[in-house]
Amino acid sequence: MKRDFIQLVQQGYNQIARDYLAWREEEAMLFRAELQDLAARLPREATVLDVGCGAGVPFTLWLSEKFRATGVDISAAQIALARQHVPRATFFQQDMLALDSFCAPQSFDAITCFYSLIHVPRDQHARVLGHFNRVLKARGYLLLITGNGDLNDDIDDFFGATMYWSHFARATSLQIIRDAGFEILWDKIVADRPSGSHVLAFARKNFSETS
Ligand SMILES: C[S@@+](CC[C@H](N)C(=O)[O-])C[C@H]1O[C@@H](n2cnc3c(N)ncnc32)[C@H](O)[C@@H]1O
Repeated sequence: MKRDFIQLVQQGYNQIARDYLAWREEEAMLFRAELQDLAARLPREATVLDVGCGAGVPFTLWLSEKFRATGVDISAAQIALARQHVPRATFFQQDMLALDSFCAPQSFDAITCFYSLIHVPRDQHARVLGHFNRVLKARGYLLLITGNGDLNDDIDDFFGATMYWSHFARATSLQIIRDAGFEILWDKIVADRPSGSHVLAFARKNFSETS
């Protein structure tokens, strides 16, 4: 497995955590309508896991104002900032590839995953989606951003750090989500960056899977 890429991403976000947060704080919050759609489907006191939460701004913060939110991120610097900025949530510094070693099966009503799976080598995406399925409760929801296009082992500068990206084209990513035991409720291409776009997918754990 490509551990060096995972370490490169971890080091990169440790280096740029403050600059990334400053940019996030300036940017208008994306996906408010989609998050509201998710929230409307969840019970009060729902448990929501934000995977690759960064400094928790704005997404974990928004979730923590409504639900019992937990954030996971591989970067210690991101988690330290998240604990400062989102006091109501619980945070773990962990690799999403090991999610099922620190999250109990069927412990979350929903998972959000914004712009973080794209930093995991794509031959591991199916494994991560399998973890998501196992830690979700029966009929739990997944709101996920992944890349739009075929990109393998891309390394480039990001806020002055060396960063790594990896993802499949839309149809393959959606099939991986389905194969991991999810029904896709909708998906769309979001032109969210001047430099390009991503795929936003909203999915629900299949009833027949380990529910
Ligand atoms: C582009 S930032 C997105 C942060 C936040 N979700 C947002 O939208 O502002 C990507 C985050 O994913 C985290 N990340 C990357 N690979 C990860 C992994 N294998 N496990 C957990 N977190 C990871 C990074 O440390 C970083 O904080």
